[in-house]
Amino acid sequence: MSIFNVYPLNPIAITKAAGSRVWDDKGQEYLDMYGGHAVISIGHTQPHWVKRIEDQLHAIAFYSNSVIMPIQEQLANALNEISGKKDFQLFLCNSGAEANENAMKLASFHTGRKKIIAFKKAFHGRTSLAVAATDNPSIVAPVNETNNIIFLPFNDIAALEACFVEHGSEIAAVIIEGIQGVAGIHEASDAFLQAIRKACDTYAAVYIADSVQCGYGRSGQFFAHDHAGVNADIYSMAKGMGNGFPIGGILIAPHIQAKFGMLGTTFGGNPLACAAALAVIEVMQKDHLIKAAQDKGTYLMNVLKQTEGVKAVRGRGLMIGFEMEAELSDLRKVLLNDLKIFTGEAKPNVVRLLPSLAISMEDINLFITGLNKAIQLLKQKNN
Ligand SMILES: Cc1ncc(COP(=O)(O)O)c(C=O)c1O
Repeated sequence: MSIFNVYPLNPIAITKAAGSRVWDDKGQEYLDMYGGHAVISIGHTQPHWVKRIEDQLHAIAFYSNSVIMPIQEQLANALNEISGKKDFQLFLCNSGAEANENAMKLASFHTGRKKIIAFKKAFHGRTSLAVAATDNPSIVAPVNETNNIIFLPFNDIAALEACFVEHGSEIAAVIIEGIQGVAGIHEASDAFLQAIRKACDTYAAVYIADSVQCGYGRSGQFFAHDHAGVNADIYSMAKGMGNGFPIGGILIAPHIQAKFGMLGTTFGGNPLACAAALAVIEVMQKDHLIKAAQDKGTYLMNVLKQTEGVKAVRGRGLMIGFEMEAELSDLRKVLLNDLKIFTGEAKPNVVRLLPSLAISMEDINLFITGLNKAIQLLKQKNN
């Protein structure tokens, strides 16, 4: 049987990892500035994380959500504490798309309305409503097409207000990434997030903060939306939440009330996933990784801004995108093949950096040295 071929693959087989390093099956070492697409939050195979999952495996790996699971309550308390969203409620699932799917469904149940506002270039996942709210028609199957999603320009307060004036009573929710990731690292402005908060309050709509990629400390705050000083009604989370163990979830404001059967899942909130997620929070707190993301990200962005060939630098904390001059468009290939450094991409010419929040200054400096070498190599090739 063959693998269903949906990913353009790098011809590299990764078989081992530790911290911000990965190794291929031939023993070649790579620096990981991509974090497996923003998933590695506390470092590959982080020892406390491994031990907590191992211990949990010996106690109980799985039971269904038909019994009390104390470890879910522990995770809810830990999340309350680290996020500062004190009276919020937690619903657990398995991925980012599922988190957004549940967030939008819950907003619709709560308001009794159907329309969702999303934004140009947004990415919210590949399940039916999440993909419908994703601004990329090439990944929307005919069955996912719906006229319940209204796409508005990003960071355009006037367009947002005009839409609420026209459709306010029909709008269940606004869903927005604090920093658009797949689009190429574009920050929502503080004023825009504040305007969303205000419009949702005025029209009794639900503000959904998609924090799947920009959340969990990556931006230098627990949620990127926190930079704007506003609270959303629902935060969706995944990626960094389990440091590679599949888990997602939504934090739900206290005024949104649960009803039996409203949401549900078999695997969501299983003890193994909760153990992984608790380990992540424990390491983040012990090693002050949110502050580290802020400090290291600021340092790296400042260096990038002064690097020859870099046209624009965007992002916050360790969620960084930089645009290269057109003649350096092969930069990612050279970084990977010649310098053995993994990075992420966004079309047409953006390099995305999403490393572990625990990356060392040595590794950041190693990346900077590698980047400069790659730029020199490309310039020599071009001349
Ligand atoms: C902002 C955002 N939301 C949702 C998702 C979907 O997450 P998952 O792939 O875990 O379903 C992603 C994935 O890249 C994302 O970046």
